[in-house]
Amino acid sequence: MARITSGVATSHVPAVGAALDNGRSGEPYWKPVFAGYDFSKQWIARQKPDVVVLVYNDHASAFSLDIVPTFAIGCAPAFPPADEGWGPRPVPVVEGHPELASHIAQSVIQQDFDLTIVHKMDVDHGLTVPMSLMFGQPERWPVRVIPVPVNVVLFPPPSGRRCYELGKAIRRAVDSFDQDLNVQVWGTGGMSHQLQGPRAGLINREWDNHWLDRLIESPEEVARIPHIEYLREAGSEGVELVMWLIMRGALNPKVRTVHRFYHVPASNTALGHVILENMG
Ligand code: DHB
Ligand code: FE
Repeated sequence: MARITSGVATSHVPAVGAALDNGRSGEPYWKPVFAGYDFSKQWIARQKPDVVVLVYNDHASAFSLDIVPTFAIGCAPAFPPADEGWGPRPVPVVEGHPELASHIAQSVIQQDFDLTIVHKMDVDHGLTVPMSLMFGQPERWPVRVIPVPVNVVLFPPPSGRRCYELGKAIRRAVDSFDQDLNVQVWGTGGMSHQLQGPRAGLINREWDNHWLDRLIESPEEVARIPHIEYLREAGSEGVELVMWLIMRGALNPKVRTVHRFYHVPASNTALGHVILENMG
C-alpha cells in the first residue's frame, strides 16, 4: 500500500531560485539561506520518496485571472517549468504520477472536495523553488510529483480549516492506493511577507514562530485561525501559509520535528522550513 511517511514545508521565494540558477548561492547574502537546507538534502536522499504531493500556489502563471480554481490536482505525466517573464527556469521538467493523481482525484472528490482536474500545466516558482531547495540542481528530479495548486492569490482563498480537512482527505486517498509507494506531502509558501502597499516588507518573526509551534503541536488550533489574522499578523502574502495546513492534515496527530529553519532576510519574505515525520 502507499503510505505518507513525512511532510515538508518551505517558503518558495523566487529570488532563491534565481540565486541558484545564476550561480550566486555562495554569496554572503544567500549562503545562510541555502545552509538551512543542507540537512534537508541529506535527509531526503536517505528517505528516497517515490512521490511528492506538492501543495503550492500558482502566481497567475498557469492560471490567468480568467480562471482561478480554489483547489486543483495535476494528473499529467509531465509539467514543464513556467515562463514567469525571464524565460523558464533552467530546471528539469517535473514528472507526474498520473495513476496516483487520478486515484487521489477520484477519492478526494468523492469525499466532497472539489478539485479541478488538470491535464496540462506549467509550474512556476511556487513549485520549482521548493524542488531546488530540497534536491539542488540534478539533471533529472529524483521523484515523481503530483502538483496541488491552491488559490491564495485572489480573495477569497480557502480557509485554514478547509485546507486542514483536505490534507486528511488526501491522506485517506493515499492510504487506499494499492501500490507500495513512499509518499511525502509538501506545503509551500509563507511565512510572513507582504509585497504590496504601505506595509510592503512586513515580517513578523514572533508570530511566525508561534504559528509554527502550534502547527506542529496543536494543528486543530491553527486550523481555526481566520484569514484576517494572517493578513494582520503575516501580511497579505502570508496567507500562503494555509497551504502548510494541507501538509499537516495529511500527517498523524503526533509528529516528530526532524528539522526546523527560519531565516531573514531572503528577498521580501521570512523564510521558514520544517520537516515532520509521522509518529505512531
Ligand atoms: C516573494 C515571495 C513570494 O512568495 C512570491 O510569490 C513572490 C516574491 C519575495 O519575497 O520577493
Ligand atoms: Fe508566493
